[in-house]
Amino acid sequence: MRIHTKAVHVGDRRKPGRHIPVTTPIHTAASFFYESMEQLDRVFGHEEPGFSYSRYENPSASALEELIAALESGHGALACASGMAAIHMAVVTALADRRKSVVAANALYGATVSLLMNVLEPAGVAVRFVDVCDLDALRDAVVQTRPGCILTETISNPLLRVGQIDCIAGIARDAGAALVVDNTFASPLIVRPLELGASFTVHSVTKYLAGHGDVLGGVVVSDEPHFESLRTLSRAIGPVLGPFECYLTMRGVKTFVLRMEKQCANACRVASWLAAHPKVERVYFPADPAHPDAATIRRLFPANLYGAIVSFELKDAGRPEVFRFMDALNLIVRATSLGDVHSMMLYPVMSSHRELAPKHRERMGIRDSLVRLSVGIEAPEDIIDDLDQALAG
Ligand SMILES: Cc1ncc(COP(=O)(O)O)c(C=O)c1O
Repeated sequence: MRIHTKAVHVGDRRKPGRHIPVTTPIHTAASFFYESMEQLDRVFGHEEPGFSYSRYENPSASALEELIAALESGHGALACASGMAAIHMAVVTALADRRKSVVAANALYGATVSLLMNVLEPAGVAVRFVDVCDLDALRDAVVQTRPGCILTETISNPLLRVGQIDCIAGIARDAGAALVVDNTFASPLIVRPLELGASFTVHSVTKYLAGHGDVLGGVVVSDEPHFESLRTLSRAIGPVLGPFECYLTMRGVKTFVLRMEKQCANACRVASWLAAHPKVERVYFPADPAHPDAATIRRLFPANLYGAIVSFELKDAGRPEVFRFMDALNLIVRATSLGDVHSMMLYPVMSSHRELAPKHRERMGIRDSLVRLSVGIEAPEDIIDDLDQALAG
């Protein structure tokens, strides 16, 4: 071989030896080589396990998918390039052989509302928003619109409402609709929607599952009846997560339970402290006995795990006061995400719900005085000290 050829071929396509790596390697190959065309044909035809092309399946992605499907008690999973790609895939799969109509919770992440109104509605999907915590209102909307899909979040963003997923799943089942649940805020440590009758659970793995602020990714976990269709559509659409992000996410998931338990405990302390602060108008946190969904939370959540997001309104504050308060934070990171090891604060009006018209935000109860705190794994005293000094200013 000439040097030009050596540079391209030497060292590649070595057979795995007798060694087995203890963690899954980053498989960057776009396609996979077999000793014979016969064998490749069998792999393409699913008669023999294997990988052919990374848009179809990739070993790094497949390992992550097996892991998250196990955490969520699903039949199978699809790792996607972002949480939004995962929500899109779940809804498109849910509607594949059903009426092109969605009943969606009226409290959802802003980009999910945008996906429904700016992508799916113009493509001919009817969308109706309803308070899914009001089961009678949900039933009425389902009878009126006969949806192919119901879409909700386990803990809503950012006001932390909690619907009765098992009852919502029953309503979906009776109507022949698929239930898609965004479980990003709760995580499978707290709620596993597929165990409660949902057809799909989706995550932004960017958040608690990866957990370190260095991955953008998503995952759809599905029940058995929808899995083949999810895979088929994924092959055509190509929303897949790259192998390096799959590796980082798997690495993150190994400590996810430990992080989440600590974050939940920290959030309880921070929420109680905030509730007693004179400059705080109102705290939204699922452990609050006066939470509008307290009975549901008691029924569906394990003891002492309420998630790690605390939203709160500052007293007599508008945008300038909120900006001043957030600019004064020293430890808590002002940034748009949640679920990382470090505490983070976001201003929903400016970021997660920016795309929505002010009137729409108002109807959702998202005011100019509202901030959303994602509590990290730091010492809770340090998080509280930082809030204290920022509120004092
Ligand atoms: C509840 C929820 N779902 C989905 C998403 C979208 O995830 P991603 O940013 O990974 O696309 C977010 C992002 O903040 C979110 O908060």
